[in-house]
Amino acid sequence: MTRIRKITAPRRLPASELKRRRRQLMRAMGEDAIAILPAAHECLRNRDVEYPFRQDSDFLYLTDFPEPEAVAVFIPGRQQGEYLLFCRERDADKETWHGRRAGPEGAVARYGADDAFPIGDIDDILPGLLEHRARLYYTMGKDAAFDRRLMDWVNQLRRKVRSGASAPHEFIDLEFLLHDMRLYKSRSELRLMREAARITVEAHRRAMRATAPGRYEFEVEAELLHTFRRHGCEPAYPSIVGGGENGCILHYTENSAPLRDGDLLLIDAGAEYCGYASDVTRTFPVNGRYSPAQRELYELVLAAQQAAIEQVVPGNHWNDPHNAAVRVLTRGLIELGLLKGKPATLIKDGAYRRFYMHRTGHWLGLDVHDVGDYKVGEEWRVLEPGMVMTVEPGLYIAPGSKDVPKRFQGIGIRIEDDVLVTKEGSEVLTEGLVKRPEDIEALMAGA
Ligand code: GLY
Ligand code: MN
Ligand code: MN
Repeated sequence: MTRIRKITAPRRLPASELKRRRRQLMRAMGEDAIAILPAAHECLRNRDVEYPFRQDSDFLYLTDFPEPEAVAVFIPGRQQGEYLLFCRERDADKETWHGRRAGPEGAVARYGADDAFPIGDIDDILPGLLEHRARLYYTMGKDAAFDRRLMDWVNQLRRKVRSGASAPHEFIDLEFLLHDMRLYKSRSELRLMREAARITVEAHRRAMRATAPGRYEFEVEAELLHTFRRHGCEPAYPSIVGGGENGCILHYTENSAPLRDGDLLLIDAGAEYCGYASDVTRTFPVNGRYSPAQRELYELVLAAQQAAIEQVVPGNHWNDPHNAAVRVLTRGLIELGLLKGKPATLIKDGAYRRFYMHRTGHWLGLDVHDVGDYKVGEEWRVLEPGMVMTVEPGLYIAPGSKDVPKRFQGIGIRIEDDVLVTKEGSEVLTEGLVKRPEDIEALMAGA
């Protein structure tokens, strides 16, 4: 009998967390500064059909406001309100056709804005808010149309200097402050990320059980989607479901081929829960049993992943897990006869890149490739508690690779987990998903 997990309503972050983030940002900005942050736009897919709307992650982080056509403004120390939101007005007719809107009333009542205005009034109100603020925090270059509007507002003020107006004269990238904040996950954020991880684990298990020769990649993808949607999630990125040599295409998303007996299936898929991503890869045999060649390569990637995860410890540098994975993979490739030479020289020359051409991970959070600097100055960043990253080594032996034994050709393997840096070391958020070959085989056999 299959146990059906009880569904809980998706949680929201507590209002106090949102408030804390805004306070932290405004404290870092200092008085006489202003920050402006537009929401994401709706985007056409074809003719009059739109892609599902996804809020901009920075906007989500500071407002939790889910609608397009909105602009958030942060003005530290402003007596009449520090956090202002411009948004669409309530409109019975439009809401009947397109869905509910919070309106400025809802922005204040439900989203914690100190004050809110119709988005149509922004040209009249914003120049006045910029006046007498020396520093403007804004991310240039993400939205060309908004960049121009903002410059128009600033220029309006510049034209009025003789009547005593003063326009901001320092322009600072808002991302500089915000993305460092986003890199350190709070306890509330980690609760959501653990849930994203748990749902992702459930989805991968279901997909493994549904895999069999003759089924199509998209049928297996449907199993992932089933679990994501039943928990109110979306995929955090297009799921990769690649059988056989499709596993050697790093961002394969066609998911259209039939699965063949004797091939591996690589699935890279993760749920997005309340905005937070999970990002997990497993590679397993379509028929439930690894062949000896597949197993040799698989064990090597697994050993590389274990070595990399061991390097996720506070005080280590961002690059340490990658270096550990490269060392294990290079030595293993020599033993398997796929590389020839001394490990140190092969590593220095990057010889492994023929079979391992990506890096071992990235930050994870509201974006799957999350924000946050990987280097501070010349140095790789020091790992600190609260950072979440993926650890995802792989080996990709493209079909027709020269000087490679036939039995290894067309095998693509990646193993990816989500790892939190803790005070003591690390916590693998996705460890509920099997990855030892014998455990995968047992699960596929119905264990
Ligand atoms: N799924 C994208 C990645 O693994 O980076
Ligand atoms: Mn990844
Ligand atoms: Mn991935």
